[in-house]
Amino acid sequence: MSYCVDISPLDKRVECWRSHFPQLRRKVHGRPLVYLDNAATSLKPRDVIEAVQQYYLRDNANVHRANHALGHASTTVYEDARKAVAQLIGAAATQEIIFTGGTTDSINALATALSKSYLQRGDVVLLSELEHHSNIVPWLELSQRMGIQLVYLPIAEDDDRVVKALEEHIERHRPRLLAVTHASNLTGRVLPIERMAEVARQYEVPMMVDGAQGVVHHRIDVAKLGLDFYAFSSHKLYGPMGIGVLYIRKKWHDVLPPFRFGGGMIDEVDYQSVSYAQAPYKYEAGTPHVAGAAGLLAAVRFLESIHWEEGLAYEQQLLRVAVDTLRKVDGIRLLGHEGGQYDPIVSVYAPKVHHYDLAVLMDQMGVAVRAGHHCVQPYLKKLGLKGTVRISLAFYNTEEEVEYCADALKRSIQILTG
Ligand code: ALA
Repeated sequence: MSYCVDISPLDKRVECWRSHFPQLRRKVHGRPLVYLDNAATSLKPRDVIEAVQQYYLRDNANVHRANHALGHASTTVYEDARKAVAQLIGAAATQEIIFTGGTTDSINALATALSKSYLQRGDVVLLSELEHHSNIVPWLELSQRMGIQLVYLPIAEDDDRVVKALEEHIERHRPRLLAVTHASNLTGRVLPIERMAEVARQYEVPMMVDGAQGVVHHRIDVAKLGLDFYAFSSHKLYGPMGIGVLYIRKKWHDVLPPFRFGGGMIDEVDYQSVSYAQAPYKYEAGTPHVAGAAGLLAAVRFLESIHWEEGLAYEQQLLRVAVDTLRKVDGIRLLGHEGGQYDPIVSVYAPKVHHYDLAVLMDQMGVAVRAGHHCVQPYLKKLGLKGTVRISLAFYNTEEEVEYCADALKRSIQILTG
């Protein structure tokens, strides 16, 4: 299956990509929707919506249990989704893909499992200063409950400095785990994951990457990078909400105990004893989100069908337009984008205007952006800020939308500053 691949020039191809996203045809406040809140959640292609609908219309049954046709159909789609995800992120084996509720759920699960089998009081977990709360709070909970220590790596604009700081921090703190974001949901800054993984390997520090944003904008290869864990959500990757992935490298399967208990994850149960199934099942207790998996499978297939690399290259082109255009808006400042590598996310703030007021006015003009602390309070506090307006792009956005957004921002500032 292929969509839009032979269409040129590029703006016609973008138009074709857009035609697959029904929400792009809707209006808000009587104006065409300009959706620039993709880092919060992406819009869904029709294929994904139909896959979820078809699942409930046709195949709905429980997985791994029923010996009837619907049970087989349901299990097939669920396991096909696992295979597709394994392939997408370069996992060496499908058993390394664990379905969870989303990135937050994945990191919580990992923290719980590590706390029972690997981390001990006084151990250091090294995070970056750019982390989303979902990659801080689960570790903070461990710090309060069992006395692990959290150390934060500063992230300079220059990758060499990040790598050097990582080496120094590992030398000084001897962390038991490195847990960093692939890309910041606030600024879009992409961490030099490949080089960081090399350093982690050299010092034999296990590495977890929060790929909530990164997986949406990069072709990742977890096996090649030698990552131990990688977490992400389906809903930012054009799939349904409520399902996500925790990649657990095979060598951890005997170390990490299950983190949820019940049906579907056992080998044998007696009244007083239990033995567990092999991974991935020992990590997936209860009835999973099969419709979500069907939608995620459709999302992965959709991305392949449009030759996703072309969308990724176009996003970078759009990002350059966004940064140049937003820099020309009087009264605002951009976070970052000074030379490092970035995903298509730009956070701006206007020192004289509250970010919520800006976003409310922009919404009236049809522009959907996120305003607030974006669940990155520690880093914003470090910058002396309470919040930003965040513009986050996807491959279905256009230069016209970016220009319209910059104009809406400008008009909103003028209205608010009189
Ligand atoms: N983590 C999502 C965001 O950055 C919700 O908006």
